[in-house]
Amino acid sequence: MIRTLILLQFVALPWLVFGEHRIIGGNTRSIKVVPWFGSLLAKSKLKCSGVLVKSNYFLTAAKCVAGYKLSDLKVRLGTSSCQSGGFKVGVCKVKIHPQYSAWRFDNNLALLRTCESLATTRQIKAIERADKVPQDHSRANLTGCGARRGSWYDIAEGRTFDEFLDALNDMFLDLPTQLHSTELRILNQNQCASDWRSFGSYRLKGISHLTICTKTSRKGACVYDMGAPLVVDNKLVGILSTSGCSFKPDVYSNVIKHKTWFDDNTKE
Ligand SMILES: *[C@@H]1O[C@H](CO)[C@@H](O)[C@H](O)[C@H]1NC(C)=O
Repeated sequence: MIRTLILLQFVALPWLVFGEHRIIGGNTRSIKVVPWFGSLLAKSKLKCSGVLVKSNYFLTAAKCVAGYKLSDLKVRLGTSSCQSGGFKVGVCKVKIHPQYSAWRFDNNLALLRTCESLATTRQIKAIERADKVPQDHSRANLTGCGARRGSWYDIAEGRTFDEFLDALNDMFLDLPTQLHSTELRILNQNQCASDWRSFGSYRLKGISHLTICTKTSRKGACVYDMGAPLVVDNKLVGILSTSGCSFKPDVYSNVIKHKTWFDDNTKE
């Protein structure tokens, strides 16, 4: 409890001071434009974003599912709302990338087999993967339900303080009710690693050819966007691994580099 209060002070004060920095760009988006988008619910609460990659497979970040039982998880598809509507489907199997490690940016991927196969509709449709890694400076769209809020939260996003996070969310987060998309620019990987290093990050492992980064320009991902799809011309290129909350570059697992794992695990 004491620890929570101390952390709250640390988070809440800068938040009030830097209130103007909260909104991280982006426009509301109809699900019909992004019918592959879905949310992951854990114990009935919005946990992460993700993307339908086959009629019975949903791709999200491994970190979003680690520690949960199958019965805790559901996928919500087919709604432009972040809080309600659409179609909820249970998860019958979780396949976490074998090289996933909570301390790395790369390989933060999990394939979730849904208990039912989803028929394609105007609101629900699997996405294809891109086959070429996008070039530095090119554009890509990020879609998510995440809180479009500022950087300080991310610092305190104590990856081990899950309970603290929940309490904080309830107190401070005014989650968007509508799905958002933001157009971002791909950032060179070396630059990305050096930007993260300049913040003295304790989690620097794994910015490599297995990741993609996008630039910070007061736009980008924030809490709850983990697992959010990065898409170029309606094809999937990345899954958000770590958000920079417009403060540091966002880092994604590069799905183009995981073709074998992906193909091997989406057969059933
Ligand atoms: C991003 O989304 C907008 C709106 O749907 C679209 O016009 C644009 O072409 C997309 N950009 C990329 C790189 O896919």
